[in-house]
Amino acid sequence: MSNIYVSSHPLIAHKLTKLRDVNTEPKKFRELVRELAGLLAYEATADLQIEETHVQTPLQVTPGSTLIEKIGLVPILRAGLGMVEGIWELMPSAEVWHIGIYRDEKTLKPVEYYNKLPTEPTVSVCLILDPMLATGGSAVATVDVLKRWGVKRIKFVGLIGAPEGVAAMQSRHPDVPIHLGALDHHLNEHGYIVPGLGDAGDRQFGTA
Ligand code: PRP
Ligand code: URA
Repeated sequence: MSNIYVSSHPLIAHKLTKLRDVNTEPKKFRELVRELAGLLAYEATADLQIEETHVQTPLQVTPGSTLIEKIGLVPILRAGLGMVEGIWELMPSAEVWHIGIYRDEKTLKPVEYYNKLPTEPTVSVCLILDPMLATGGSAVATVDVLKRWGVKRIKFVGLIGAPEGVAAMQSRHPDVPIHLGALDHHLNEHGYIVPGLGDAGDRQFGTA
């Protein structure tokens, strides 16, 4: 599969295993989501553009680099919220634009309920944040929104994906790279990722 990057980093594998554990409490779960998001965003942003610059150290002037892309973090409510802080620590000047989408429990289709994007795009690259890429409906709908907004470069950053969600994204938005901590086996009859971790929103917010 092209355009999909599944991390092979041991730290990510270790933390994902703890995240999946049914006995991991919401407090620890939130901590792991935050840490995993930072690690995955570090990998996903390896191609950000920089401008060559110079800096005066205490000893001499030396070449340096400055990031020139304006980054937007786009968490899909609710579960994507927990991924923001860990990435914001690494790129504090990033803008955060929330998109509210939930998955209808019966149809599994995405339902949009919050979008306050201004008319013109204010960033040049967006990282869509959502722990779970299941059917892919929510991710595809979010990319639709961002493309209509006019964003030129979009990446999806998730913790766990299913082959069905990856296929949906690659069919509808083949230009959007997908960065995952793990690619799981399949979706069950309720649209849950197997083996997965259960409901990412409920496990973060203690609402199961
Ligand atoms: C979950 C998850 C994704 C979506 C993935 O959200 O956080 O947004 O499901 O499923 P999909 O790939 O089939 O669209 P959910 O609808 O449970 O809402 P929540 O985050 O508010 O709990
Ligand atoms: N949403 C979740 O939170 N978990 C899944 O396994 C699928 C969708």
